Amino acid sequence: MDKRFLLVFSLFCCIEAVTLLKCITCHLRMKSDRCRRGYGVCLAQRDESCMLLRIYKDYALQLSYMVCQRFCRNLTFTFSNRTYIHHCCEADYCNKR
Ligand SMILES: *[C@@H]1O[C@H](CO)[C@@H](O)[C@H](O)[C@H]1NC(C)=O
Ligand SMILES: *[C@@H]1O[C@H](CO)[C@@H](O)[C@H](O)[C@H]1NC(C)=O
Repeated sequence: MDKRFLLVFSLFCCIEAVTLLKCITCHLRMKSDRCRRGYGVCLAQRDESCMLLRIYKDYALQLSYMVCQRFCRNLTFTFSNRTYIHHCCEADYCNKR
């Protein structure tokens, strides 16, 4: 492989490593229970931020979902009597519930 390419690549890798935002991941969390599936940490890539999605039914929290989300937007909408609240944030581990 080209040495110049390797140099650029390794610089890129290490700059990224120190600046990447860390977010909590959880693909399924019921009510006040702990995370049941997909618990961990993701590194937000370009255009990603941390997202927490909460789904309420009849004003009670039913489940929540946490990921690194591309083009994340704060958004709330109601569909079939369920309310979906997307919350985006840009600080390490800020998408904890
Ligand atoms: C979403 O809302 C939070 C808190 O209200 C705010 O800090 C954040 O900048 C907003 N994010 C976007 C992408 O609008
Ligand atoms: C939503 O809630 C209302 C009032 O509780 C109920 O009448 C309606 O059938 C519900 N709709 C759905 C799609 O569950």
